[in-house]
Amino acid sequence: MTEGQISWTTRPVATRLAAIAFAFLISGQGFAQGSAEAGQAKAASCAACHGADGNSINPLWPSLAGQHPEYIVRQLEAYQSGDREDQLMTAFATSLSDEDMYDLAAYFATLPSVQRGADPALVELGQRIYRSGLPDRGVAACIACHGPAGRGNPLAAFPVVRGQHATYLANTLNAYAAGNRRSDGSVNQMMRDIAVSLRAEEIRAVSSYMQGLR
Ligand code: HEC
Ligand code: HEC
Repeated sequence: MTEGQISWTTRPVATRLAAIAFAFLISGQGFAQGSAEAGQAKAASCAACHGADGNSINPLWPSLAGQHPEYIVRQLEAYQSGDREDQLMTAFATSLSDEDMYDLAAYFATLPSVQRGADPALVELGQRIYRSGLPDRGVAACIACHGPAGRGNPLAAFPVVRGQHATYLANTLNAYAAGNRRSDGSVNQMMRDIAVSLRAEEIRAVSSYMQGLR
């Protein structure tokens, strides 16, 4: 700090609160102001894995088409902070500026998502867990947050899960269960708590069911 500057901590509380409120205003506007057009140009480097139209063709790699922009930004921030780690994804996320993230999120959110089916053998169990949860084990119904058609909730940054690759969904549920995915820290670790209570065949079934939602 250069001499003559007023230190942050000695500023009057009201000034500090106003600054914080202003920062929130800016970050809140970021989503609205992210430019889908600018994002389209920046997305060329994402296409190799997430697909030219945001629909990945490799079941290990998530589709981003139609995903909520707030959720996309929060995940990119999680890769940057280390709350999520992935050999392929971390390097791409760390090279992005805040503006890049808003633009990319705005762009992917506008793309139509490809819909996929569920494994008929797993539908019954998957549907029961998705709609009713597992009350005896304290597992909340997925439908409460991810919605009847798997469209999530943009305001609360609950992700879209419909049409997402079942293999990716199962892998990421296992990562939550193992504590390796910690991007839900700002939402009371809700997905880690849920995933750790699911058995392997339940994770497979509910992941297949979510892939088939439309
Ligand atoms: C080399 C392949 C690769 C490239 C290129 C790539 N990603 Fe990813 N991305 C992945 C993989 C693999 C995952 C899932 C990793 C995991 O399980 O955490 C992922 C996950 C994500 C997620 C989280 C999705 C979700 O549903 O939670 C977002 C958001 C994302 N990538 C955005 C991007 C953006 C934006 C770019 C371009 C700047 C990009 N990725 C480039 C491989 C890639
Ligand atoms: C109380 C709300 C809530 C409930 C109930 C809930 N989820 Fe979630 N879910 C979330 C939130 C919030 C996130 C994003 C957390 C983060 O940023 O990591 C999420 C993320 C996920 C993801 C990661 C999606 C992706 O693209 O990477 C999967 C998979 C998932 N939930 C599956 C489920 C399943 C299966 C159930 C039911 C057994 C369930 N959720 C119940 C709120 C909920």
